[in-house]
Amino acid sequence: MNETSHLTTDPQSTFTQLILALSTAMDLDEKVKLYHGWQVAVWASKMAEEACPQQLTEIFYAGLLHDIGGIGLSDHIIHYPRLDDQLKNPEVRRHPYRGAQIIRMIPMIFKGLHHIADMVLEHHEWWTGKGYPNGKSGDEIGKEAQLLRAADAFDVYRRLYPKPVSESVDSALDRLASSQECSSQMVHLLKKTLGREDPSPLLRDEAALADLIRQMQDRLHPLTLQDTPDTLEGVLLLFAKVIDAKHSYTAGHSERIALYSSQVARALGLPDDQVREIRYAGYLHDIGKLSVPRSILDKPGPLDEEERRLVKNHPRLTIEVLKFFPALRGLAQIAGRHHERWDGQGYPDGLKGEEIPLGGRILAVADALDALTSDRPYRKIGTFKEALQDLRTNRSKQFDPRVVDATVELFG
Ligand SMILES: [Fe+2]
Ligand SMILES: [Fe+2]
Ligand SMILES: [Fe+2]
Repeated sequence: MNETSHLTTDPQSTFTQLILALSTAMDLDEKVKLYHGWQVAVWASKMAEEACPQQLTEIFYAGLLHDIGGIGLSDHIIHYPRLDDQLKNPEVRRHPYRGAQIIRMIPMIFKGLHHIADMVLEHHEWWTGKGYPNGKSGDEIGKEAQLLRAADAFDVYRRLYPKPVSESVDSALDRLASSQECSSQMVHLLKKTLGREDPSPLLRDEAALADLIRQMQDRLHPLTLQDTPDTLEGVLLLFAKVIDAKHSYTAGHSERIALYSSQVARALGLPDDQVREIRYAGYLHDIGKLSVPRSILDKPGPLDEEERRLVKNHPRLTIEVLKFFPALRGLAQIAGRHHERWDGQGYPDGLKGEEIPLGGRILAVADALDALTSDRPYRKIGTFKEALQDLRTNRSKQFDPRVVDATVELFG
């Protein structure tokens, strides 16, 4: 439980790692990690070093988060490379606005993010005025947003071309120049940036990209998270809402899991730091679900085999994403175990009994309690009493008997 201390003693670095984790999770596309946010952060920041070095911190984080408003889309946004297709889809058209809104919810607890929100709002405005959401043109568009547009388009276009990397870079630059979404000055700046060093390792190699992201983050001004005990809680809550926004029917789910599971943990007599850890894991338990296409999550009928496989993979991705970040590592084995079963029939690893960390066993019960009392496309909403009865029926099968007893006693 050593990792817990990172969460409590250094909320600052936990916060920045949470942003990176969210950006990584947003870019999970079924089996592939796309790292689109990371790529945009890298190229926009490299351009900013020359064009507006004072705004480097904001541009870096705006790059990571620029597509956060696209989280509810059925497909990852990079699958809409053409402006026409973007404009035809109301959800795509709204994503810069939604993204800015999500980011603006953070300033109450964290200074400086409103600039980032403005950049995100404008990241699809085109130099020619054909972009969205406001059809701004030329220098009406903030310079930082222009940098983001160039980096964003570059990353989307280069993915359309087959390897080798050098060819995809050239074709992407050509396409960017002919689309006129950026000023020729921006295209020139991007070309110069790409020409300074060989970009191939960063475009090809996940580890090189991760290293660079970490180095950049260390060099930037630290984001100043206000120093109150509830700050990190507020950030986690916001991220939980973002994760839940992926489905049309799970509003409030992660928040309720966090609440139920910390109440149960307390009833079981666990110490405060462990209770807090379980609550934080509750907020993030479904972060891996960001990789599951929305058409599957919201499907009213039964899933086919491939669809089931994708859904069942989400706790594994939750573990993978959280494990990647030192400050969040301690949450991975709790958060990613919410679908394991006491009898070993669960997923992703079929762990059994006390092989499953206690926090994971608690989350499993809290998850079921919420699922049974919420509206789902395949089932009618149940009462709390029915849900507790269901937990009792599955005592020692699906659930840890001790956790069921504590839950029934607490909510019964
Ligand atoms: Fe976008
Ligand atoms: Fe993008
Ligand atoms: Fe789940």
